[in-house]
Amino acid sequence: KVEVRRQLWGQEQVRRTYPKRAPDAHKGTAGKACVFAGSFTMPGAAVLAGKAAIRGGAGLTTIVTPKSALPLIAPSLTEATYVAASDEDGHFSGELPALGSFDAITVGPGIGRRKGSALLVDQLLEAENVPLLLDADALYHLSEDVSRLKRRGSPTILTPHPGEMAQLCGVKVQDVQTERLNLSRRFCQEYGVFLVLKGPHTVVTTPSGEQFVNHSGNAALAKGGTGDVLTGVITAFMMSHGSVQAALCNAVWLHGKVAEVLVEEKHSLTDVTASDVIDGLPSVLRTVE
Ligand code: APR
Ligand code: MG
Repeated sequence: KVEVRRQLWGQEQVRRTYPKRAPDAHKGTAGKACVFAGSFTMPGAAVLAGKAAIRGGAGLTTIVTPKSALPLIAPSLTEATYVAASDEDGHFSGELPALGSFDAITVGPGIGRRKGSALLVDQLLEAENVPLLLDADALYHLSEDVSRLKRRGSPTILTPHPGEMAQLCGVKVQDVQTERLNLSRRFCQEYGVFLVLKGPHTVVTTPSGEQFVNHSGNAALAKGGTGDVLTGVITAFMMSHGSVQAALCNAVWLHGKVAEVLVEEKHSLTDVTASDVIDGLPSVLRTVE
């Protein structure tokens, strides 16, 4: 029997694996997410990731952000709760605030590249018994010492774009693009993580090296902030789906499909914004749930 290691993942697979929301669901069963995001100069990334997590079905979403960024984020994100983190010049100082327990932790959008956010990532990598998603500048900090991933006991999800993947692997972006599947598989098997290598035909790879190629999406997504939206949706789906792989594949497909529907129905490839992608989630979600 030939092992099929690269599979396509489309609407049929999404429909089959999309979880049913139980009639007696409450916000606790829908999952509590903790999103470390934002800074004084990048508050929007936290808004986008947080909104997308809520639209993606998270029961409760807590945004942890530097104190000075909090009032820039909260007015645009009504449904979240907030924790003000110790702030150094508008960015995370690195001191981890006291937190409750969560069903998923996400870190990265808008956190920046300073020492404080490096310290934050360092500590979150040690978080036990909770899936951890690293995106954006959390991946930049992770690149300092990727071997830290090997100490994680719970699922770890990385969502690099090709530039971030190049840095994680210590290769050129061009080499990432010619070896997307092989590089992803080797990385996941070595470090025991789930990986979403973004770009047209996003590749999802599991720790055992199973791979899924996505075909939804279009160039309307080539605009700052769409990655933060994907991160939010994945955060929610990690909590609602029985399998991390299905959560990742479904989020990636949905995100791309929304871009297609937006361009078919009322937008152009030029004008779609990350906020439009959030607003477009309902119409595609209705077709799979
Ligand atoms: N076709 C299909 N999908 C695309 C295309 C395309 N041509 N271009 C982009 N996408 C999708 C990607 O697959 C991914 O899901 O859009 C999303 C873009 O995500 P990111 O590259 O992470 O972009 P984002 O984080 O929103 O903005 C750029 O990343 O490099 C950092 O610091 C930089 O803040 C900046 C941020
Ligand atoms: Mg990004």
